[in-house]
Amino acid sequence: MGHSFDSSRYERTPRRIRAPFASTRVPAHRFAAAARMYYDSRPLMNEGTPAKLTGASGEMLWGFWYPALRSSEIHGRKLARATLLDVPLVLGRDAAGKPFALRDICPHRAFPLSFGQFDGESVECAYHGWQFDAHTGQCRHIPSLTADSKLKCERIYAGSFPCAERDGYLWAFMTNPEGRALPATDAVPPAPELPTFSSHYKIAHLAADLPCNVDHGIIGLMDPAHGPFVHQAWWWRTRRSIRDKAKQFEPIPNGFRMSPHAPSVNSAPYKLLKFITGEPATTTIDFVLPNQRFEQIRAGKYWLSSRTTVTPIRRDLCRLDFVAAWNILPWFPIVSFIIHVLGPRFIRQDTTVIEKQGLGLKYEDRMMLVDDADRQARWYFELKAAHLESQRTGQPMRHPVAGPVTLRWRS
Ligand code: FES
Ligand SMILES: [Fe+2]
Repeated sequence: MGHSFDSSRYERTPRRIRAPFASTRVPAHRFAAAARMYYDSRPLMNEGTPAKLTGASGEMLWGFWYPALRSSEIHGRKLARATLLDVPLVLGRDAAGKPFALRDICPHRAFPLSFGQFDGESVECAYHGWQFDAHTGQCRHIPSLTADSKLKCERIYAGSFPCAERDGYLWAFMTNPEGRALPATDAVPPAPELPTFSSHYKIAHLAADLPCNVDHGIIGLMDPAHGPFVHQAWWWRTRRSIRDKAKQFEPIPNGFRMSPHAPSVNSAPYKLLKFITGEPATTTIDFVLPNQRFEQIRAGKYWLSSRTTVTPIRRDLCRLDFVAAWNILPWFPIVSFIIHVLGPRFIRQDTTVIEKQGLGLKYEDRMMLVDDADRQARWYFELKAAHLESQRTGQPMRHPVAGPVTLRWRS
């Protein structure tokens, strides 16, 4: 993550922003007419703010699948480490190739299990040799016990998480921080899968670290207003290309959809797509809790399907994972070029912005959400709050997006 700006320049004491009513000489109401909005004056600017939302707290959502590792990071009996939602994990594949994820902490004395051995069935801790079933975490053997020991080692468990392999990732279903087994009545949903629309296609993966909490990472994903400033490039868009946008949105389970529409006319890749396929393209963008943004571009029989996830690793660190599959000109590597050469530049522009934003967030983590350009960010916070509320009460989730709605902004 090397970056060239000099952060020490920003490390001075921040200039204090004076509250509008700080002066005691003038009655507060005199200011009302000319009230100014200071960035720290109100937590979230807009109507209908649920009282709970005081900013991007970065609270992590349990009970969802998250991508832990690329499939290619696990070979044979190798044990691999990952961290998800501040939980250290050890992952691997059993003798039959089935993946598993255990909490990387031995229940005996917290030694990381990932330093141990794996025989294709059980993980053996390298400190005192306790053995645990790779899938359930159940203790199978404690070498120090004598034959007449009363201890029931099968009652001891290492934390474990449902694990699945999809789209080139090992996913873990993050039940709870301890990796306690769910009651048998709680079904684990299938792991997420990238939609594909033909039997043959190409696939590519990109990843980047985002040094921020998950909320800032995610609202960055759905923020239409930064494009002309952060992603300036002759092949994409420039400040001069800012224009009025009107997009239709609709609620979908656990999220919202930007309804199928013709892609932005001011971006070169879409112009190219139209030129190549000779068909008008449509694009559909979905956001689904906890952290997934899907984008599908269809042009006749050609398609490109992508998913971006922003996964909380720790409170102050996320990882962006991007996967795309396509069947557009598989024999001519133009899409591959766009993804492998232009994609990392595009993501780099976002990570640089997040790094710089962190310099300000150290002093002030409140935010303004302004009009329709920030409406999707607002929906994200409302979806999250509604999800937590439904987890707390056991009631169905109240969806914050009531029906189809058109949002207007300039970008
Ligand atoms: S710490 Fe793992 S066996 Fe003792
Ligand atoms: Fe961006």
